[in-house]
Amino acid sequence: MAEDFLPIKGYDHVEFYVGNAKQAAHFYDKTFGFKPIAKRGLETGCRDRSSYVMRQGKVTFVLTSAYGPDSEIARHCALHGDGVKAIALEVNDCEAAIRETKSRGATVLKPASALEDENGQVVTGEILYAGDTIFRFVERKNYRGAFAPGFAPIEATGSDAVGFTSIDHIVTNVYLGEMDYWSDWYARTMGFTNLAHFTDKDISTEYSALMSKVMENGTGKTKFPINEPADGKKKSQIEEYLDFYQGQGVQHIAMTTGNIYDTVAELRQRDIDFLRVPDTYYEYMRDRIGDVGEDWDRLQELGILVDKDDDGYLLQIFTTPVQDRPTLFFEVIQRHGSRGFGIGNFKALFVSIEQEQALRGNL
Ligand code: FE2
Repeated sequence: MAEDFLPIKGYDHVEFYVGNAKQAAHFYDKTFGFKPIAKRGLETGCRDRSSYVMRQGKVTFVLTSAYGPDSEIARHCALHGDGVKAIALEVNDCEAAIRETKSRGATVLKPASALEDENGQVVTGEILYAGDTIFRFVERKNYRGAFAPGFAPIEATGSDAVGFTSIDHIVTNVYLGEMDYWSDWYARTMGFTNLAHFTDKDISTEYSALMSKVMENGTGKTKFPINEPADGKKKSQIEEYLDFYQGQGVQHIAMTTGNIYDTVAELRQRDIDFLRVPDTYYEYMRDRIGDVGEDWDRLQELGILVDKDDDGYLLQIFTTPVQDRPTLFFEVIQRHGSRGFGIGNFKALFVSIEQEQALRGNL
């Protein structure tokens, strides 16, 4: 096995470009239970953008909006709506990450550059990914501040956490015929390997289908499924995303919890909507999966999905889109041995997604 030229320590953060970062921060605080920990904006001397850093467990979201119209943030929001701009990965050597990926064909948007304050140094560099989405490499060099130089800590307490511990995987939707291009890109440019491959035979319903490949980095710390639409009778949920996002981009972020019952019950209390699966799903799954030591009645009551493979099982649930456009949503996942992505649920789930899509007049 060749040496890993891009050793990734894990997800550092995800940056969203949004229309109104102040209100988005309130939403992620009051509903998903993220605590605001740092901010930059006019009060910290940043004249063009306002950013709120939100954290829960090891998950860090940065919510950024523009102060004016002449800005890549404003243009991004006008085109895509609120969405993910940057997937930030922590590395030990940002300079090397940029050098190694560039030599393998990455488009460098920002060379490695350091920012310093009294708490230490953070080095970041950026490469282009699918559509307007970018990968950002972050080297923290024992940085002791709240987030990064330029950000002031926030003393707000925030709402109670709902139990998110880490990011499990981040999924990108790409155009028809481009899944292989992007999985090759991950392999060639980032040194990732293919963990799984699902064809339209695995993931299809009467109306629509998709294909998916899962790429994993050398250390196994980060996983990136890539979806492309496949031919179906009607518009697939991937095509709906591509239409409304006006391009390729991040479809969903899966976050782990140690107790999915408590997490989902609390999120429901806070008015987060989840995809509904028909009750027939549970009749079918109780039969297919049998006793795995979970409370089937409670799973059904909360709408949590179950999937099982040779390594174990997993529990998962999907929110509805978190902005007006039917684009980005979240997944809550609890793994019990399974390293899969819920392939057995895809079909049941897509029937449910299509019901929602039909309600929006997009099927
Ligand atoms: Fe997922």
